Amino acid sequence: MVELRPATEADAEAMGRVWASAWRDGHLGLVPEELAEVRTPESFLERAAARVADTTVADVDGVLAGFFMVDRDEVEQVFVDAPHRGTGVAAALLAEAERRVAAAGHPAAWLAVVDGNARARRFYEKAGWHDAGPFDYAARDGARTIPVPCRRYVKDVSGGAAIPR
Ligand SMILES: CC(C)(COP(=O)(O)OP(=O)(O)OC[C@H]1O[C@@H](n2cnc3c(N)ncnc32)[C@H](O)[C@@H]1OP(=O)(O)O)[C@@H](O)C(=O)NCCC(=O)NCCS
Repeated sequence: MVELRPATEADAEAMGRVWASAWRDGHLGLVPEELAEVRTPESFLERAAARVADTTVADVDGVLAGFFMVDRDEVEQVFVDAPHRGTGVAAALLAEAERRVAAAGHPAAWLAVVDGNARARRFYEKAGWHDAGPFDYAARDGARTIPVPCRRYVKDVSGGAAIPR
């Protein structure tokens, strides 16, 4: 059974492990080499520890199966550990991320996905997101940023709330 709950410091290590390995699955060979070089396993452990407060995890029978982070109207990270892909864990995480964005008062959510990440793109499209075009995502490495060619995906999360016409 999937339980979605706020991450705690005790989750940071598992978050970092899942993030490192799922990031490789979704990005290796599809992003600039200079980004792949700095996205080491240690870097994910550090980033996970720093982002615990922003993270919601999916707990499956006591195992951290995946997580998401939201920053204002951006669904920043959706990562699911390989054994839990195709099980509905990712859909539960994404639906909750959308609810968070809506609850913060934003009518639409957005996220960045690299062009060649076909599985993620299919997953988002199944969930009602659409491709709003190409842009360069500014991936951070400490103080510097590395431009990563991405697609911007968007979804109306207003739930049919009246939008003045
Ligand atoms: C992206 C991710 C969260 C999606 O979760 P998931 O459990 O794999 O998603 P689902 O299995 O529900 O959906 C994936 C869909 O892509 C399809 N798919 C799988 N491999 C594919 C490929 N190479 N090309 C196109 N579609 C593919 C699946 O068949 C499925 O579609 P279907 O349900 O119509 O059959 C997960 O795969 C993941 O963590 N990937 C690695 C990290 C990542 O890329 N995160 C997103 C960063 S933007």
